[in-house]
Amino acid sequence: MKRFLPDEAATIAFGREILDALPGDLAGWTLLLSGELGAGKSTFARAFIRAAGHTGTVPSPTYTLVEPYTLPRASIYHVDLYRVSDENELRYLGWNELDDGCRLVEWPDRAPGLVAQADLSLEFSYAGGGRNVNVLPLSSRARTLKWGQSP
Ligand SMILES: Nc1ncnc2c1ncn2[C@@H]1O[C@H](COP(=O)(O)OP(=O)(O)O)[C@@H](O)[C@H]1O
Ligand SMILES: [Mg+2]
Repeated sequence: MKRFLPDEAATIAFGREILDALPGDLAGWTLLLSGELGAGKSTFARAFIRAAGHTGTVPSPTYTLVEPYTLPRASIYHVDLYRVSDENELRYLGWNELDDGCRLVEWPDRAPGLVAQADLSLEFSYAGGGRNVNVLPLSSRARTLKWGQSP
């Protein structure tokens, strides 16, 4: 599914739409957010986390690598692999212990092996003044999801 997001508000609405399309229990779901700098990955992640009930700020995990949120529906782990150069570093950030929640991963290309254990790939790209997002299901459970108004 490909979608044009004309402005920031559309990216925010899309974050809520994806959250709403996922099952009630988000534990174990992994969403890969790719795209160049400024493509909208963090805007999407912030909207998704707020739609799940978080009311405070959503700081960038660039330096902490993981920002955890304990929310009514599940834990959400906002992960940023920008500074990761070796896939083995995932172990040090405790990746395997994050499977009780939903993992939102920015810069997943830093750890190519993640594709094999991820559910959805969201690829953001510049499109004029707005953005395009390409949604690719990676797991069989993701292929059964029903999208709101997919074109
Ligand atoms: N659909 C959109 N159209 C235009 N600008 C957008 C859109 N979505 C997000 N933005 C803007 O793009 C900028 C960078 O977004 P950000 O989410 O930080 O990107 P990334 O995390 O991919 O580097 C922000 O100023 C944000 O408001
Ligand atoms: Mg970002």
